[in-house]
Amino acid sequence: YVVLLLWAVIGYLLGSIPGGMIFAKLMNLGNLRDIGSGNIGATNVLRTGNKKAAALTLIFDAAKGAIVVLAARQLAGEDAAQLGALMAFLGHCFPVWLRFKGGKGVATYFGILLAVDWQIGLIACAIWLVVAAVSRYSSLAALVTAGWIPLVVGFITPGEMFVLTAILCFLIYVRHWANIQRLRKGTETKIGKKAQA
Ligand code: G3P
Repeated sequence: YVVLLLWAVIGYLLGSIPGGMIFAKLMNLGNLRDIGSGNIGATNVLRTGNKKAAALTLIFDAAKGAIVVLAARQLAGEDAAQLGALMAFLGHCFPVWLRFKGGKGVATYFGILLAVDWQIGLIACAIWLVVAAVSRYSSLAALVTAGWIPLVVGFITPGEMFVLTAILCFLIYVRHWANIQRLRKGTETKIGKKAQA
C-alpha cells in the first residue's frame, strides 16, 4: 500500500502542473482566467490566437497522464498505474498551486487512455475528432468521447479499465457542467473562436 500511496502522490503532483498557465505566461498571452471560458486547458489557450501555445498545452497536459501511467506500470504494476492515472487527472482538475481551481482534464484523459491502452486511446481520439469536426465544439467532443469510452472498454476489455474510464467520465461531466449549460442554451463557443468569458 505504501507503493500505491507513493504513486498516488506522484500522480497528483505531476498532474497538478498547469501546462496552459505556464505556456501562457512564458509566451506573454495574458491571464487565461480573463480569456474565453477562463479555463487553463488547450481549448482556451487556442482562444488567445496562439496555436503553438495551444498545441504545447495539449501535449504537456496529455504527457502528464501518460508519463504517470507508463512509469508506474513499469515500476509498480497495473494497479499503481491506474491509481496514478486517476490522481494525475485529479491533480490537473484540482491543483493545490491554483487553490484547487484547475482544468477540465480532457488532455490528461487522452494521455492516460493512450498509455493504458493505445488502441482505446486511438478510438477516443477518433471519436473526439469526428465530433469536433462536425460540431466545432471542443466540450461536446470531450463529453461524447468520455461517455462512449467506458462502453467501448466494457465491450472490448472488461476489468479495471472500465472502472477507471467510468470514474473519469463522471469527473469530466462534472468539470464540464458550465459547458453543458452553454451547449443547451446554444451559447457555447466554437473551437478557435475568440470570445469573452
Ligand atoms: O478540454 C476542455 C474543453 O472540453 C472545454 O474547454 O475552454 O471551452 O471550457 P473550454
